[in-house]
Amino acid sequence: MPIRPAIIGNWKMNGSGKEVKLVSRFADFLDKHKIAADVMICPPATLIGRAGGAIKGSKLKIGAQNCHVAASGAYTGDVSASMLKDAGAKAVIVGHSERRAGYDETDKQVRQKAQAVIEQGLQSIICVGETRQQFNKGQTLQVVGRQLRGSIPSSATPQSTLIAYEPVWAIGSGRTPKPADILRTHAHLRKTLLKLHPKEGAKFKILYGGSVSAANASDILALENVNGALVGGASLSFKDFTTILRSV
Ligand code: PGA
Repeated sequence: MPIRPAIIGNWKMNGSGKEVKLVSRFADFLDKHKIAADVMICPPATLIGRAGGAIKGSKLKIGAQNCHVAASGAYTGDVSASMLKDAGAKAVIVGHSERRAGYDETDKQVRQKAQAVIEQGLQSIICVGETRQQFNKGQTLQVVGRQLRGSIPSSATPQSTLIAYEPVWAIGSGRTPKPADILRTHAHLRKTLLKLHPKEGAKFKILYGGSVSAANASDILALENVNGALVGGASLSFKDFTTILRSV
């Protein structure tokens, strides 16, 4: 059975009330066109409720970008997986490199977050990726293999968990690895998943992320073991994101 791809938009810290309209336009687009992919937008937490409300009944899903490991408590400024679920999120991105780098998130914390997400019946989208320096030193496979083993909970299933390979140096830079490099890294992630989950390792979706654009999406999505994309900047543009959706 081929894996149904997933295209996920990560809005990062962008968007206010008026961008809810863009989410509605994506939902209308999905309902009008036959797109052979699961599609999700992860807006900032402040918009999850409004965006979800605006697209009720649509095929488009709404996700979140981060959560706290605990369900509730004295964690000023944080939001839990159960709160995101309550707001209408169906998935949570965990371990994005901007959080690993900016907030010193470790593999262990990422794993705990993913576990908290899965326990709520939501999907966890676990990000891994090497820095430019690690890429230059030829350490990519070693780094992403270690991150994946350390970040994926043992309870993860292909239904509950997606993996996103995002080279740190490709994010927001307009640069992407060569197709052969993406192919090699995704094959390594697949091999690692098969080792961790011999029965179901073949079924996990492995997304590519990092400067996915309207121009390069079809080439990247055609690569073996690339089961979708995590799209940052281009998911803030109707034209770019829908072009990416059409290229699935
Ligand atoms: P980008 O971001 O598509 O803007 O490079 C991807 C991401 O960080 O998820």
